[in-house]
Amino acid sequence: MRNISDELAIFVQEGAEYIKYLVATQSYDVAKYLVILAPIVTLWYYFFWRPFNYYRDFTDFGFQEAARKPPGKGSNVSKRNIINDMRSRRKLGELPPVYPNGWFIILESRELLIEGSREVSCLGLALVAWRGKSGKSYVADAYCPHLGAHLGVNGEVRDDCIKCPFHGWAFEGSNGKCVDIPYADSVPEFARIKMWETVEMNGFIYLWYHAEGEKPNWQPDEMREIATGEWKYRGRSEFLATCHIQEVPENGADMSHLNVVHKPAMLSGGKPTEAKLTWGFLTHQWSGSWEANSNPELSHRALMTLTHRMCLFNKIPFMEVNVQAHQVGPGTVYLRFKGFGGEGVLFFNVTPLEPLLMKITHTFYSSRSMLHPFGLLILLGEAIQLERDIAIWNRKTYISRPLLTKEDKAIKAFRRWFSQFYSSNSPRMSTAFNNPILPNPSVTTTPTSNGSIKLNPDNLSF
Ligand code: FES
Ligand SMILES: [Fe+2]
Repeated sequence: MRNISDELAIFVQEGAEYIKYLVATQSYDVAKYLVILAPIVTLWYYFFWRPFNYYRDFTDFGFQEAARKPPGKGSNVSKRNIINDMRSRRKLGELPPVYPNGWFIILESRELLIEGSREVSCLGLALVAWRGKSGKSYVADAYCPHLGAHLGVNGEVRDDCIKCPFHGWAFEGSNGKCVDIPYADSVPEFARIKMWETVEMNGFIYLWYHAEGEKPNWQPDEMREIATGEWKYRGRSEFLATCHIQEVPENGADMSHLNVVHKPAMLSGGKPTEAKLTWGFLTHQWSGSWEANSNPELSHRALMTLTHRMCLFNKIPFMEVNVQAHQVGPGTVYLRFKGFGGEGVLFFNVTPLEPLLMKITHTFYSSRSMLHPFGLLILLGEAIQLERDIAIWNRKTYISRPLLTKEDKAIKAFRRWFSQFYSSNSPRMSTAFNNPILPNPSVTTTPTSNGSIKLNPDNLSF
């Protein structure tokens, strides 16, 4: 299937061919108009139609030392290997359990086509996700109980079943039961795969994870305007960060970092110290609060209230925005707002791919009345600010008993609140890796199938 960029390339190529034809046949007037029109259409496509789509790997932030060339010739050590070594030498601190209980986004709806299947790996789980003919999505344990093939690797979707690529056993999406073994007279009653509880809303597939296997006691919030198609998808960005999951939402309660990390103008980029141009006359100024929901029925929720001002010469404010960010469970935050000619919602989601590898995404929808470039700008601004945080998260240690001032009290409240998502069986760093044994005991890291790096916990520095 062709994607949008392929379609655009074909469109431009065909347009160029047509112009050549018009010139050749001396239809100069039409050709002239088309030459003027083509760049306008292209600009319109990029700025008013194409959704934002941005991806950054964790190796881009906080590992400047790895990019420094060693003196002299002869070294062929890659940046990635140096980063592996830096990660293995990291002092991790006394980490809380690595996978909290709650709803986590494992896929975006658009990533799972009708009768398509995908391999998903997160929260220490090997999963297969598929979308049946009915349009419903399903998530199950990936390994086939027959002889262990991965159902997400060439697994075929038939109606609402997933069919194993090895010997063709078919499993029903609604309950995981095996409904067909092509070469057997009967199907054993106990042949089934474990199905995971999921909900699909807001353009995401959420999976419920609980270390004790308990049922969900809360649900993610649904945005009616997305479900009805009232709001338009403006785009997304995705980042990998190598840190503990708690570091990401803790940022929302850490008010004092805002006027340090996020103070330099967005125009100085994700690495303000390396910016070529100084934008010192322009700063962001922040104030706000973070509070856990006091209603016991809504204890999985917290609210961050934030005022953002743009300032000239640190003194003259010229723009003020007030926002409320809703933290719902350990992995999802959203911010609803009005302004820029419409209404919208910006999601901030974090899902642990591994104990210390987080997938962080921003996704933005807004009313159709909002000019598309505003949406692109908001996503770009959020991406730049997040890159600054990731540079810190990638290299920091976790201090379980931090030295806090009274101004930092929200951090203490946040940690108390977040601890509700851990239970007695929540996996710890030392037990969470699926494959702790590596072929060469002197090797401290190994690449995984998604290109990330997996640490050998036996060699980790605690
Ligand atoms: S391994 Fe799946 S059918 Fe044999
Ligand atoms: Fe931050």
